[in-house]
This record gives sequence, C-alpha cells and structure tokens, in this order.
Amino acid sequence: MKRPKIAVFFGTRPEAIKVAPVIKRLAGDERFELLSVSTGQHREMLDQVIDIFDLPVHHDLGVMTPGQTLAGLSSKLIASIDQILEAEQPDFALVQGDTTTVLMASLACFYRRIPTGHIEAGLRTGNLASPFPEEANRVLASPISMLHFAPTSVSEANLLNERIDPAKIFVTGNTVIDALHLEVQQQSDPAVAAKIDEELGAVLPSDWRDKRFVLITGHRRENFGGGFDEICGAISELAERFPDVRFVYPVHLNPNVSGPVQKALGAFDNVLLLPPQSYRPFVALMQACELVLTDSGGVQEEAPGLGKPVLVMRDTTERPEGVDAGTVRLVGPVRKNIVDGVSELLSDREAYDQMARATNPYGDGTASQKILDAIAQHYC
Ligand code: UD1
Ligand code: UDP
Repeated sequence: MKRPKIAVFFGTRPEAIKVAPVIKRLAGDERFELLSVSTGQHREMLDQVIDIFDLPVHHDLGVMTPGQTLAGLSSKLIASIDQILEAEQPDFALVQGDTTTVLMASLACFYRRIPTGHIEAGLRTGNLASPFPEEANRVLASPISMLHFAPTSVSEANLLNERIDPAKIFVTGNTVIDALHLEVQQQSDPAVAAKIDEELGAVLPSDWRDKRFVLITGHRRENFGGGFDEICGAISELAERFPDVRFVYPVHLNPNVSGPVQKALGAFDNVLLLPPQSYRPFVALMQACELVLTDSGGVQEEAPGLGKPVLVMRDTTERPEGVDAGTVRLVGPVRKNIVDGVSELLSDREAYDQMARATNPYGDGTASQKILDAIAQHYC
C-alpha cells in the first residue's frame, strides 16, 4: 500500500525548532513518506536551526527579502507553496504555530483540498492586535485545518469555544518541549558542553558564567517604535542600577528591532548585544541566566521548564499556563514595570525563589509521537 506523503511546512526560527522533533520522527516512521518544505521566510536564523538539528529539507522556497512587508511576504509564499503542492501532491500537510508561513500554507492547501494538521493549535489572546499579526494567523488557520494539535487543555478549550469538532482535537503537549529535552540531553555530554562554552566564549567575556546575567530577547511587531523605546529605556536604566549584573541580549535580525536596539544600548559595558544565537548556545544561556526578559512565545514555554523566572514584555499572553504556574509574569512593554520587575527579582531572594520553580505545563517531550499517531489514525 502507498504510504501517505506528509508535507511539513516551516519558515522561521521558532517553527523550525518546533517541527524539528516531528520531522526527525517522521523521517524514521515507516507509516509515512516525509516531504520537508522550508519556505525560507527567515534565512540566517532558520539555517542555524536546520544545521543544529541536521534537518532534511526537500524544498527551500527562499522567499525572504530584507525588510519584507506582510503582504509582500504573503503573496510570495502562497504562490511558491502552491507550486510545490502541484508538483508533489502531498496527501496531508503539517503547519506549526502562527506565522505568515502557517497561514499561507494552510490557505494554499485548503484551495487544493489537501487536509492540514495544525501543530500548536488553539493559542489565543482574544485580541487581534496582540500579538500582531500572529493572533489573526492562528485564528484564521483553525477553521481550515482538519486536525488540531493543541498543546494543553487550555488551548483545547479555546478550540471547542470556536466550535471545532472535538473528535479532531488532540491534546499533545508542545513539541518545543520535545526539542528542549533532546537538546538538554545532548548538553549533558561534557564534550558538547565544552564546545558550546567555546562558542559562547567567542562572543561573551571569558568569565560569562561567573557573573549574574539577565537574558533578553524581543521582536514583536506590536512593540516596534514606542514599545522598543520603553524596553530599551528600561534596560539602560537597569544596566546603570545594577553595574555588577550583565544584560545579555541576542538581537533579532529584523531591522525594526536591530536598528533601535543597537542605537539605544550599544554603548553600555554591561549590556552585551549579540547576533542571534544558534539554538544550542541559546539553551545554554537560558540554563545559566538569572532570569529571562522577553516578548517571545517559545521562550515563555522553555524557560519555566528550566526553572527560570520569565518577565514578559507584552500586554497579553496566549500562554497563561506559565502565569498560572507562577513562573511567568506579564510586565508589558512598559519601562517602569520592566525596571521594577527585574529589580525585584535581582534584589529579593524570596520573590526570586517563588518564581524560580521548574514547572512544565507544556508537555512531557512526547508531543511529536502523539501527533504522528493521531495522523496515522486518519491515514493509515
Ligand atoms: C516572524 C514571525 C513571528 C515570529 C518571528 C520569530 C510573522 C508575521 N512573524 O517575525 O510570528 O515570532 O518570525 O522570530 O510571520 N531577517 C533576516 N534574517 C533572518 C530573519 C529575519 O535578515 O534570518 C530580517 C529580514 O529583514 C526580514 C525581517 O527580519 O525581512 C522580518 O522577518 P519576518 O519573518 O517577516 O518577521 P519577524 O519579525 O522575523
Ligand atoms: N532562540 C534561539 N536563539 C536566539 C533567541 C531565541 O535559538 O538567539 C530560540 C528560543 O530558544 C526559542 C525560539 O528561538 O525556541 C523562539 O523564537 P522567537 O523568539 O524568534 O519567536 P517566537 O517564539 O516568539 O515566535
């Protein structure tokens, strides 16, 4: 019998990290034929992940252009994805998350009546402006997906509220935890750990493990402009207030981020602006840091599993599980709240210990297997 051909679409750094364990499993699963398609919505930041996980890529659509607009990117994506669908005729397609790649791949498949499975389905803030445009991307992907892989019962409930067929929803955990488990296990090998230390030693001071540091990431579109002014203002104030603490910030390549950040923070001795780090050293940084200050989605899921407090520079989160567990707190892109939140965690041991508890509401590392088994129920 012909094995179903499963196309997996991904295009950005976080999608690649989160589909990596699925692709790896699919490649070794005799029930399926794998077709791995990178849209190339990102370039350098995506290639870092493809290298680390040694991902097979059967097609690379290479759509990224510097400073791309949402409409320009969307139109390139849907046209080039459609060509792949026509040439390869997959039986089923997987998408992950809430990027433009997700919405355009979902739509292109829908137009060709190719059923799709949505990994990380059902995350909602209820506010189409935050995160923008990701809330719209994931909301719009749901009614045109056939199978919905919800990471938690919270996301399952969101889908049920939108009248998605309960028989088509599978609570699997988040594949980000599968990836994190694989990576933490790799890093327990002293040879791997030594190589990472060497890599980080090339971009950080040699005593980087000896001093306390705050790990920072930020890239959300709704924070462009005023939000980033507040964020950079807060980091500069903190850098002056805590001269013995380092602020380690791997800066996203989006020019709307890197421009203002370099300008505002480039001159501080204890603010270390780095290029985007490959996943391996980034996980090592998460493990070694004091706390995380971020507006990222994926980092909100990973850091609690590593027992690190997370302050989220957003007004909303689609990941309330970490907040409920007490390890994640929303501070908004608001200078005073960021300064107060970080200062408290750096100065008050009790407050710190209350947040620094390893908890993992996002799964146990078996999400990829559950996803493949659910697809097999329908196709094998
Ligand atoms: C995208 C996703 C966002 C996700 C983020 C992860 C959308 C609408 N946004 O946002 O959901 O959280 O990725 O990082 O899908 N660039 C490079 N090299 C790279 C990557 C980006 O130079 O490897 C620069 C380019 O100038 C590019 C710009 O960043 O045009 C924006 O990239 P884009 O994918 O459109 O948006 P992100 O802000 O990265
Ligand atoms: N990450 C990384 N290098 C970095 C910053 C982040 O590998 O310099 C990883 C991080 O571990 C997480 C993912 O990238 O798995 C998050 O990506 P990002 O914040 O760009 O996107 P989001 O999750 O907000 O969509």
